[in-house]
Amino acid sequence: MRTPVLAGNWKMHKTAPETIAFLERLIPMVAGAAPREIVICPPFVNLPAAIGAARATRIEIGAQNLFWLKEGAYTGEVSAPMLTSIGCQWVIIGHSERRQYFGETDETVLKKIIAALEAGLKPIVCVGERLEEREANATEIVLGSQFASGIAPLEPGQFSKICIAYEPVWAIGTGKTATPEIAAAAHHFLRSEIRGRFGDEAAAACRILYGGSVKPDNIGGLMAQPDIDGALVGGASLDPESFASLVNH
Ligand code: 13P
Repeated sequence: MRTPVLAGNWKMHKTAPETIAFLERLIPMVAGAAPREIVICPPFVNLPAAIGAARATRIEIGAQNLFWLKEGAYTGEVSAPMLTSIGCQWVIIGHSERRQYFGETDETVLKKIIAALEAGLKPIVCVGERLEEREANATEIVLGSQFASGIAPLEPGQFSKICIAYEPVWAIGTGKTATPEIAAAAHHFLRSEIRGRFGDEAAAACRILYGGSVKPDNIGGLMAQPDIDGALVGGASLDPESFASLVNH
């Protein structure tokens, strides 16, 4: 009943011509895919190229970040209305790399979600524990606190429009995927947090994606878990064949 979401987070990869070439190869390979939402998130400057190349296809385009105010003296920032004005439909918020290198917090994550929703963007909100937190058995404490501060203050109507991505930081770009069981336990925990705050219906409807070294050879085991509703993919989304095989798995 939850339509899976397969999203590629390109991070700081690909030029505009490479973006167009990728999409031209990907489009025919996913045209016959089962019901699922397919999203590619290139760097800001390549959004227009991606949106143009994906027009009238099943592929939707997202940004990797945004700023929460609409306009003003904020050098280097990009607002939600700017993104929607060019046809961007999704946005990743609170990725661990933004938390680690650019000072994002649960408080800024919350402001960004609200700004994105006001403009009509579909947010993919990232949460996840670091290695030392997992080793200290603090995974649920960390996820619970990221949820409580970054997501739980939303109104139910706002919450119904977001996807969550569970991305254990130790599994990102390391080749160390969480086992399906580890990922499923975290997803199950997040869904119970959602249930506690927003109720059964909201918990049953929310798509929770897994991210962290998702590859064609491990997606089957992850997606077989009932609480895993898709993937947020870094490295394996940069090659059209490998991303298509994730979409078509
Ligand atoms: P990798 O798939 O390269 O591990 O990256 C995951 C990620 O951070 C997606 O947002």
